[in-house]
Formats: sequence, structure tokens, C-alpha cells
Amino acid sequence: MTDAYFKFDRYDGRVAHRIHEMRRSAVRDLFSAAMRPDIISLSGGMPDVSLLPEREIRKATEAALGQRRAQALQYGPTDGNLTTREVLCDLMRDVGIRCKPEEVLITTGAQEALDLIARTFIDPGDIILAEGPTYLGALQAFSAYEPDIRCIDFDNDGMRMDLLEAELERIGKGNPRLKYCYVIPNFQNPGGVTMAADRRKRLIELSHEYDFMVIEDDPYGRLRYEGGHMIPLKMLDHDVIYLGTISKIFAPGLRVGWIVAPTQCLSKINLAKQGGDLCGSQFDQVVVEHYFRDTPWQQTLKRFIEVYDERRRTMLAALEEYFPPEAHWTHPQGGLFIWVTLPEYVDTASMLGAALEAGVTYVPGDSFYPDGKRGKNSMRINFSFEKPENITEAIRRLAGVIEERLELYRAFIKAGALKEAEVQ
Ligand SMILES: Cc1ncc(COP(=O)(O)O)c(C=O)c1O
Repeated sequence: MTDAYFKFDRYDGRVAHRIHEMRRSAVRDLFSAAMRPDIISLSGGMPDVSLLPEREIRKATEAALGQRRAQALQYGPTDGNLTTREVLCDLMRDVGIRCKPEEVLITTGAQEALDLIARTFIDPGDIILAEGPTYLGALQAFSAYEPDIRCIDFDNDGMRMDLLEAELERIGKGNPRLKYCYVIPNFQNPGGVTMAADRRKRLIELSHEYDFMVIEDDPYGRLRYEGGHMIPLKMLDHDVIYLGTISKIFAPGLRVGWIVAPTQCLSKINLAKQGGDLCGSQFDQVVVEHYFRDTPWQQTLKRFIEVYDERRRTMLAALEEYFPPEAHWTHPQGGLFIWVTLPEYVDTASMLGAALEAGVTYVPGDSFYPDGKRGKNSMRINFSFEKPENITEAIRRLAGVIEERLELYRAFIKAGALKEAEVQ
């Protein structure tokens, strides 16, 4: 029997192979549940935009509707507005990256950058290396181009270089299928971990030794609550392709991200973008330009940092208080997420229904692996969106749901239905 027998509607049999290869995003699927007033959402990666100052937003928006209207409402260059790119170069300088506007291409959020990079460089079967677990939106963007994504485990210091080296040895030097290594070095999504300085250096060395590109995705680098600034990979090697976004330091409703890369690389990516959307939203770019040039945005960022830090501490304290001793979790120094690992016999995807009934959402860990087979006993929880009292309540409810699972297994063991070895 062929696949054609399993058609559910008239489009199923016509869908391109690349769409079959793509998995739905658990975060997108949970979006409407997360918006219900009776649910406390720990699932999204949403900044708390209620912290944005109304006056500054009005100021930036009025500029786009006033003196810059003709430009803001018109088509623009595929690379993005020159004056906006100049402002983005200033933002880059703050984090230690020197670049010229011609080395910057503005995208519709960093998400589009991920798609464009894969569209430009990936043929079916090409190898992408990534942290495991990794950002599920990157997995979605990449998988449309049918790559072979190999996940490298991380520990508290980020991607493990010993495992990366072992994988590279398997792949072999000069293998034309090996295209790039995608990493989120600061407060990784979903892990919350940060790549140590020596590993950053080693990754760059390996990229030269084995001849692959490095993609540095950095939406969270400025959301640091403790510890010192880390040197970006892009500072260690000019050839690194750096991805930035305003989503977590300003507003994701304005879809502005950017790629910083050598000009020869950008001209190829530009071609991919022309076929996708001609150009990004000029209106969004003009608003962003004015916000970062004409308003005291650093003060707003400081406020984001204070508020998220309090929420992070609240979540860590609640985990300590309510979660069972069998659970462990990461302690992020910044960003938006904590990664929790439960005993192996707890399947967080099947537990989600009970969590929803208890009024709380999270993202099951298997969503962050390309094959959906690993990470089954883990979950990503977000601390930026809910108020501290809700965070504590959500963790208390979640602990109750987990405890039910643990009790069930303990009861099975006691009754002799399972041997301890089978569940540990
Ligand atoms: C690691 C990572 N990269 C990219 C993105 C996409 O961000 P944007 O809103 O700029 O498209 C996100 C969003 O959460 C993210 O976590």
C-alpha cells in the first residue's frame, strides 16, 4: 500500500517532501492554550512588552508615520534601509563586534535569517551540527531543506567540544557535505547554558581544521543577570555568521532581525531573500531605527533585566522548594529559559495534558531534537512572561503533576509490576 491510501484531504498527496520532513512547533501549537486566562504559561519565549515605555514607542512610531512616511510605507532595498543598518552597526559595536553597513542584511526577525541561511547553503543530505537540544524554530527552518542535523550534547559550559571533535572525526576532514555548525552561545535556548571562553576558541579552531561555517545566533546576549560579558564568536573570527534580533530587547511584534557576515556571503543570502519577500517591512525598520537612535532604550533594557532577574530567581527558588529531589535543572545567568530533566521514566509530552488540566504549560523536551526521540524526560520552562506570584504557583502545580507520575511508578515497583532497573 502506498502513502496515497492515507490521504486525509485532497492536499495530503500533493505536499512536497520537504513539508513531510517538517515537524510542528510545540510552542506554536501551545500558543492559544498559553493565552487562556486560566493557564499560567511557561511555554513561550515571550518578552514582557508591557514593560516598554509608551512615550518612547509613540515617538519612534510617529517618526515612521511623519517625516519618514514616504520611506516607511514604500518598498525598500533587500538588504534593508541603510540608515537602519547603520544603527544596527552601533548596536553591534556595544557587544564588541565591528562591522560596516554593507556587512549587515536586515531580516524579518532572526527566524527568517535561519531560513535564508539554510536556503542558501543546504542541499538535501548536507550536514548541520547543532547543540542538542537546540532552538526548535531553527530545527523547523533547517529541516525544510532536508539536512542531516547532528546534535552535540552540552553541559553547563555549553556545547561539549570532545563530542563535537568525535562527530567531526566521523564526518571526516574536507567532507563537502558538512556545511555549518549552528550555536546559541549565550543563555542557550532551550538549555539556558553559556558557552565557556575556551570552548568558543576551540570551536573556531575546529571550523578551520574541518572547514565548516559557524552560525552564532545571539538573541539573548544582552539579557545577562549575573557574570561577565563573554566574547562573541564573531569577534574571534570575522567569517562567523552572526544573527541578531530586536525581539528580546525591544518588541517581537516588530519583525526586525539581522545577519552580520562577509559581503560575499551576504550577496548570496540576498539572492535567497529576493525570492522570499523582496524586502523586509520598511515601517518596522524605521521604527526600530528611531527607537535605538532617539530614545533611552538602555534604560528600558535595564528594566527588562531587573524584572526578568527577579522572575528567574523566583523560578529557581520555587523549583528548589517544590520539585522532587529526582529532578535537576540548569541555572542560567541570563536569557529566558530553564531546562529541567526528570527521571527517565517520565515522558513530558504525555504529561502535558495533565499539566494543562492543572492550568500550566511548558514545552516538552523532545521538541528540541530533530528526530523527536531524545529529551523525552525533559522540559523547557520560561520565566520572562509571567509575574513572580504566577511563576511560583505554576511550579507548585507542575510539581504536583510530576509527583503523581512518580507515585504511580513507585506503586508499580512496590507491586512488583516493574523492576526498579526498568524505570531508572
Ligand atoms: C535562539 C533563537 N533564535 C531565533 C529566534 C527567532 O527570533 P525572532 O523573533 O527575531 O524571529 C528565537 C526566538 O525565540 C530564538 O530563541
